[in-house]
Amino acid sequence: MMIEVQHLTRYFGRLCAVGDVSFKMDVGEVLGFLGPNGAGKSTTMKLITGFLTPSEGRIFICWHDLLEAPILAKQQIGYLPEGSPSYGDMTVLEFLNFIAGIRALSGQKKKDRLEFVIVSLHLEHVLPQSIETLSKGYKRRVGLAQAIIHDPSVLILDEPTDGLDPNQKHEVRELIKHMAKDKIIIVSTHILEEVAAVCTRTIVIDKGKVIVDCTPKALMARSRYYNAVTLKLTKACDLTAQLKELNTIGGVEVDKEGKHYTVLSRSKQPIFLEIQSLIQKQALPVEACYIEKGRLDEVFRSMTVGDRA
Ligand SMILES: Nc1ncnc2c1ncn2[C@@H]1O[C@H](COP(=O)(O)OP(=O)(O)O)[C@@H](O)[C@H]1O
Ligand SMILES: [Mg+2]
Repeated sequence: MMIEVQHLTRYFGRLCAVGDVSFKMDVGEVLGFLGPNGAGKSTTMKLITGFLTPSEGRIFICWHDLLEAPILAKQQIGYLPEGSPSYGDMTVLEFLNFIAGIRALSGQKKKDRLEFVIVSLHLEHVLPQSIETLSKGYKRRVGLAQAIIHDPSVLILDEPTDGLDPNQKHEVRELIKHMAKDKIIIVSTHILEEVAAVCTRTIVIDKGKVIVDCTPKALMARSRYYNAVTLKLTKACDLTAQLKELNTIGGVEVDKEGKHYTVLSRSKQPIFLEIQSLIQKQALPVEACYIEKGRLDEVFRSMTVGDRA
C-alpha cells in the first residue's frame, strides 16, 4: 500500500500554484508538508484528495489512479480540509451520522466507529449541539472525527491543530502518532515543532515547488545552530576571545546583557566536551550549558525567504 504523486501541476489562470510536485509514500510514514502561506500546500492536498483536478500529473492512491478510478481511490482517503468546513446547522451527532452513511458504514461497524471517533476526540458533551455554535477547537475536532470515521488508509490533514489550545494540540499530535503505524498520513502545518513532534519525513514547498524532501532530523542538521552550545552565565562577562581560540568554533553569538552565549560548531560536529573542559580549566562563571538540536525556524526562513525579502 502506498501513494504516488507524479509531476503534479495546477494552474489558476496564469498562476502556477503547484508545479511539478512528485513523491511516493509508504505505510507508516507521516509526512509534514511545510511551506509559507501561499506555497501551495492546500492546493496540493486538494489535488491528492480529488477535490481539484490537476492541470498535469498523475496521482495513485493505494494503486488506484485517482483520475481513472476516483471512487476506489477516494474510499481510501480521509481528508480534513483547511478551516474544517462542515454543515453548521447540523448537530455534531447528525453530522457524524451523515458522514458515516456517506462512507457506507452501517450496523455494528457504524456504531463502533462512531463511538471510537467520539471518544478519541472527546466529543461526548457536544453531540446534541449544532456545529455553528461550537468553538473553533471543537469544530476542528469534529472535522478530524469525520476524516477518520471510516478508518482510511490515507489521511490528509490540512493544518489539523490550527486554532487548538496547547493541550488540544498535544492530544491531536498523539492521536496522529497513534494512528500512524498502519496508515499513510500527510499533515500540513506552519508550526515547526509539530514536524519534529509527529513527522517521519518533511517536504518543504515554496511557490508550488518542492525545495526539500528529507527527515526532520536532516532538516534540523541544516541549521547553523545544529550542535551549537548555549551557555548561561551567572554574571556578564566577555568570553568571546577565549571561545574563539577553540578552532572547532564557527562563531559566537552574545545577547545584549553579555550573559547568554551561543557557540556555533564550525563543522556542525559536537563541540560540547571541548567547551565543557574550557569552562572547567578557566573556571568560567557558567550557570547552565546545553547542546542545541538546531532551530527549524531559522532553516525554514533561510530556505523560503528568497526573493520575497
Ligand atoms: N481557487 C483558487 N483560485 C485562484 N488562486 C488560488 C486558488 N486557490 C489557491 N490559489 C492561489 O494558489 C497559491 C497557493 O495557495 P494554497 O495552496 O492555499 O497555499 P498554502 O496552503 O500553502 O497557504 C496562492 O497564491 C493562492 O492565492
Ligand atoms: Mg493552506
